[in-house]
Amino acid sequence: MKFFIDTANLEDIKEAQALGVLDGVTTNPSLMAKEGITGKENILKHYLAICNIVDGDVSAEVISTDFDGMIREGEELAALHEQIVVKLPMIADGIKACKYFSDKGIRTNVTLVFSPGQALLAAKAGATYVSPFLGRLDDISTDGMHLISEIREIYDNYAFNTQILSASIRHTMHVVNCAKVGSDVMTGPLSSIKGLLKHPLTDIGLNQFIEDSKKMQL
Ligand code: E4P
Repeated sequence: MKFFIDTANLEDIKEAQALGVLDGVTTNPSLMAKEGITGKENILKHYLAICNIVDGDVSAEVISTDFDGMIREGEELAALHEQIVVKLPMIADGIKACKYFSDKGIRTNVTLVFSPGQALLAAKAGATYVSPFLGRLDDISTDGMHLISEIREIYDNYAFNTQILSASIRHTMHVVNCAKVGSDVMTGPLSSIKGLLKHPLTDIGLNQFIEDSKKMQL
């Protein structure tokens, strides 16, 4: 399973990249606004800065909600850097734009997916990635993980190439469960990646080894 980090914070991206396990980055307008990135020039510069830190795919989301606007924005984003993946909302014009880009060989990520039917449409339109929002479903007492399993089953039935990018990850158990049900990618905050390191028995065991190594008189 690929690990993407879901942030526009350059320090967090650098820290995840330094761990050596990062495969890409996802951003969205809320994450960009959180970093105080304003104005078209700064936004494009920020995407370039992210591409220069990581080796993998960087999802950059269009702001437009109409077909022509999405095509204009998406083409500009895709031309910015070869690592950019155009992120499109799961609406009719977003699906049309996804088909347009996939026919042109431009990679896409269909976002804001909350049902198996939406994921089926995204795959039919040739999306590179589909982003089901696991955490936001859990937030409203709906089983987000079940959605990931349903999409896995549908995509396997027809050998769709679209990769399941489990998004809106909140914690390490989401990451582990995504791996168990065969999600292709997970995207979450730095804490969801670093949290995988933690186990008290590892800390206790290491302390014991350090103490005992002192008896070895190196
Ligand atoms: C998906 O790509 C989104 O950026 C993201 O995962 C949304 O997560 P949230 O529900 O934590 O905002």
